Order: sequence, then structure tokens, then C-alpha cells
Amino acid sequence: MASGVMGKSWGKPRVFKHDREPMFGNGLVMAEDSFNGEFCGKNAPKNSGIDYSLINIIAMSSLMVESTTKMLDKWTALINSGNHEIDVEREITATAGEIIAKASFGISYENGSKVFEKLRAMQITLFKSNRYVGVPFSKLISPKKTIEAKKLGNEIDALLLSIIKAHKNSNDGCPQKDLLGLLLQVDRVNGMSGKMLTTRQLVDECKTFFFGGHETTALALSWTLLLLAMHPDWQNILREEIRQVTGDKEIDFTKVAGLKKMGWVMNEVLRLYPPSPNVQRQAREDIRVNDLLIPNGTNMWIDVVAMHHDPKLWGEDANEFKPERFKDDLYGGCRHKMGFLPFGFGGRMCIGRNLTAMEYKIVLTLILTRFSFSVSPTYSHSPAILLSLRPGNGLQLILQPI
Ligand code: HEM
Repeated sequence: MASGVMGKSWGKPRVFKHDREPMFGNGLVMAEDSFNGEFCGKNAPKNSGIDYSLINIIAMSSLMVESTTKMLDKWTALINSGNHEIDVEREITATAGEIIAKASFGISYENGSKVFEKLRAMQITLFKSNRYVGVPFSKLISPKKTIEAKKLGNEIDALLLSIIKAHKNSNDGCPQKDLLGLLLQVDRVNGMSGKMLTTRQLVDECKTFFFGGHETTALALSWTLLLLAMHPDWQNILREEIRQVTGDKEIDFTKVAGLKKMGWVMNEVLRLYPPSPNVQRQAREDIRVNDLLIPNGTNMWIDVVAMHHDPKLWGEDANEFKPERFKDDLYGGCRHKMGFLPFGFGGRMCIGRNLTAMEYKIVLTLILTRFSFSVSPTYSHSPAILLSLRPGNGLQLILQPI
């Protein structure tokens, strides 16, 4: 692979900045440099930005268990009242939202849910219809959409601002170990050297975490339940692994990382249904990749779904669910090291992937130990791209308590 492919000569396309501005502002997903470069967790320069190891993982895991158990108790009650069909995508998205609202911002789901509702409305406004990304004066082509997105953007900013203010006032000088607490702590330290974040930057980062922190994980779990419903043998394999690794007692967070087969299943689901279906880059200088010259300014759109289903990369069984392909190979036997990109690549790779893996394993363990499930006859398969790759008509399963 050419070194230029991974290097700093690739940035985020400037054209998306305007297109996605109401959704992410200039938060980390969209940003190029300055403060945001420092905020990249693992990729951050050593003496700056957030130290993600400070996040209280045990407290976060407990929140994950608490919120998931509440959801599963509700499922049991529904089943007991004769309703075996559940739209698991809707349920899991709400639970993942609850987890990120509590764990990242220390707020109740009720307060967080207002932000989620508006973010969801914005997602539909911005991404459901045809878009004119980069077309000059495109905002004038669909003025209604532009006004609606701006209005929602302002409402979300106001909600987040009130959350930030409440958070600042509530910590009594003792920083809270949630994501917003860490962000504010970094801000205080940076403030001493005059690099304090503007309110705009704080709000944009919060927006990014609110959205990026729950929807993708919820979708990974939802698509997993569909594939496991279609492959009950894999439900049994995972139940057996859970018994062996974590035992029959209460879930032990320190052990979930040892659920290797569950890790293969997660990778296989992220391959077949990547919640982030594409990745974008823009060349910041002329770049040579083997014999190809990519001129400065060129926008690249990497179609992750197409690449993950390409028989030239994966073989003739590319469309089949075969978690075992990840057994001895981190890349699932893909014939190119850049062929498996569920979390992006290079310096801008997803910073939430470890958190996702933990949440995925905790939630799936809890579900599998309480229920078996099959696909409901009312389910209609219609994957749709609405920024993320989601089930177009919900994801209805039939559940049975074990
Ligand atoms: C299954 C779950 C997830 C998937 C599939 C996913 C996927 C991605 C992808 C494809 C990117 C773009 C990478 C690139 O351009 O190379 C990204 C970036 C990012 N993700 Fe995730 N993500 C997930 C979970 C999370 C979580 C849980 C968080 C937050 C807690 C998060 C926060 C971010 C942020 C802040 C960025 C921007 C990083 C940067 O540009 O430096 N993600 N993610």
C-alpha cells in the first residue's frame, strides 16, 4: 500500500462541512485540525486532549447492564401479555441512547431523549431525499429542507447548551468522569494556556457524541439479532461460549472481552451490514498511489458496503454469514488489508470502537441468556442508507424466553 494512502495528506472533504453542518457542526467527525486533532483519543499527541482511559469503564458497564435489563424486563412483560413480536431496532436504539445519555453526559434519558428526537428528525430532513452535495447554491434548490435543518440545528444547540451549563454547575469543582466531564476538564486545563474551547466547539463535540455514540452501536446489535435469528445454530454457539467464559452467574465485565466467537460474529455483521456505509476523504496535496496520480483537492467516496461484499476480495461466499472467517484472521480472510473498514482507517479511524465492542458484548450476552428469537413473518428486508445503514421498515423478531 502506498504510504500516501494512510498519511496526513488526506483530510475530510470540505464539501461535507456545509452539507452536514447542522448535524455535526465542526465536531470531531468533520474537523480537520486544531483542538479537534488533539481530541482523537488514541491518535492524540501525548500531552494533549482527552485521556479515554479516564472514563470510568466499570460505571459505564453497570449503566449498560442496568439499561439493557430494563429493556429486557419490558420484553418479558410484553411476551407475558401475549405479544411475542418486538421491533428490536427501535428498542435497542432507545436503550443505546439511554446508555450514552447517562454515561457520557450524566443526564437522564428523558432529558437526553429531546436531543435524540431532534437529531433523528434532522437525519430524516437532511438524508432522506436526494441531496445536492457540493452543487453551488444547492441550499436554494430545496429551501424548505434548509430552513427546517437550520431550525432543528438551533434547537439542538440550545438543548445541549443547557446540558453543558447544568453539568458545569453540578460538579462542585470535582470533575465528573463521563465524557462531558472529561471534555470540560481538558477545556479547563487548556484554558490556562489560553486555548479554551468556544461554546460552539463544546456544543459540536457533544452533538457528535450524542449521535455517533449510540446509533451505530444500536444498528450493529440490531443487524446481529437479524442474522442470529436466521442462524439459530450461531445463537447456540454463542450461548455456549457465554456459559464457558462468563459462567452462569451475573455478567462479569472483565470477562466479556474474552468472548472471542462473539467478536467474530460482530466483525461478520459489521462486514455484511456496516452501520457507517461509506467513508470520505479529500486529497490535501497531489498523491501518488502506485501508478495513479490523485490530484490535490480530489474527493474520494469509499463505498464500504460494496467493498465488504466484493467476491474478488472475499471469495464467492462474500454474501454469506460466516463468522468463522474471522477465527484466525483479523481481516476475515480479506485479500486486501484495506478491504475491511467498518470503523474507517488511518488517523481518522473511529475513536469509539473499543467502547462499542464492550457495549455490544454486554447487551448481546444479556439478550442471548434470556431469549431465543426468530424472524417475524411481518419483517420485510429493506436496508436503507440514511447516513447510516439501517433496516428501512424496522426489525421485527419473534421472541421466546429461555
Ligand atoms: C458499531 C459502532 C461504530 C461504527 C461502525 C463507527 C464507525 C465510524 C466510522 C466509519 C468513522 C469514520 C472513520 C474515518 O473517516 O476513517 C467513525 C468516526 C468516529 N466515530 Fe465511530 N463508529 C461506531 C461507534 C462509535 C462510538 C460508540 C463513538 C463515541 C463514543 C464514536 C465516535 C466517533 C467519532 C468521534 C469519530 C470521528 C473520529 C475522527 O474523525 O477523528 N463512534 N466512526
